[in-house]
Amino acid sequence: MSRAIQVAAFGGPENLHLVDLPVGEPAAGEIRIRHHACGLNYIDVYQRTGLYPSPLPLTLGMEGAGIVEAVGSGVTHLQMGDRAAYASNPPGSYSEARVMPAKNVVKLPDGIAFDTAAGMMLKGLTAQYLLKRTLPVQGLQAGDHVLFHAAAGGVGLIACQWAKALGLQLIGTAGSPAKCELARAHGAAHVIDYAREDFVARVKDITGGRGVKVVYDSVGKDTFEGSLNCLQPFGLMASFGNASGPVAPFAPGILGPKGSLYVTRQTLFTHIATREATQQMADDLFAVVGSGAVKIRIDQRYALADVAQAHRDLEARKTTGSTVLMP
Ligand SMILES: NC(=O)c1ccc[n+]([C@@H]2O[C@H](COP(=O)([O-])OP(=O)(O)OC[C@H]3O[C@@H](n4cnc5c(N)ncnc54)[C@H](OP(=O)(O)O)[C@@H]3O)[C@@H](O)[C@H]2O)c1
Repeated sequence: MSRAIQVAAFGGPENLHLVDLPVGEPAAGEIRIRHHACGLNYIDVYQRTGLYPSPLPLTLGMEGAGIVEAVGSGVTHLQMGDRAAYASNPPGSYSEARVMPAKNVVKLPDGIAFDTAAGMMLKGLTAQYLLKRTLPVQGLQAGDHVLFHAAAGGVGLIACQWAKALGLQLIGTAGSPAKCELARAHGAAHVIDYAREDFVARVKDITGGRGVKVVYDSVGKDTFEGSLNCLQPFGLMASFGNASGPVAPFAPGILGPKGSLYVTRQTLFTHIATREATQQMADDLFAVVGSGAVKIRIDQRYALADVAQAHRDLEARKTTGSTVLMP
């Protein structure tokens, strides 16, 4: 049996319940992992509320780290006793132990602690595919400006540091002066408090009127239109989240007069569709963390049983950096 956090009906944090679940043995292509830590992500909120619907009851959580306890047939890249970590579908990491597909689980380098891993797999692989695989048609060169919203959050602080390591001038937005300072301290070349300042005007000012080649926008509804207005001709709007609500439908015709813009909606799970791609991206993440160029900040820790408070704090914009839950 394993203690786990389940949602039996979509709704608020009060719908998160601690339950005891049988764990069982891994089938072909699966492993059983005993978690030492699991990560909190905004997607957990979308799944809890039903914005991203799943069959119920649902054990939440898509990021975890721990020890492999059992390995199903056909799994060759992991062994019993391995330290391991993952960002993976289906949800289920809000638990002491689970059986899951092995495809997105990778061995954890000795130098990376379990809580660090739980705070970086989903967020760090996301920063990886955004900055390295979600590029404007002209590509990105050292010195280029990029706009990254919610720069003091979990994905955001990793992206600030990684962008700096790549030589990019990241313009980070955040919702308070303190969050802006945090983003700056982690490598943002410029910061904008978008709760108090007009971010479109500031981006134009910072870039000498040119705008940016790419906007990475996880805020969604509240920033979408402004983000389009920050782009250079042929620029790329990379939408990857809905923290303020989903982007409203729009007519592609608006993209022409704004400069023949490109719009994409990205999800990590397309990028980690295969074991090989997962391993390659994870190796890149482990290398940049191992080099010290990207440090993983765990600014909040909660006991698994206190997950409702963790969700309230995340939705109230009270968190910065990564948040881990301890089973
Ligand atoms: N598509 C993908 O592959 C993928 C993968 C990972 C994450 N994501 C997305 O990336 C975003 C960041 O994820 P995360 O887990 O690291 O979360 P996070 O950035 O730590 O937290 C979300 C942040 O969004 C900002 N925000 C702006 N408007 C908001 C609103 N109305 N309500 C709540 N927050 C608001 C807040 O920062 P400020 O106060 O500074 O505005 C808040 O701290 C999320 O939207 C998530 O869904 C997408």
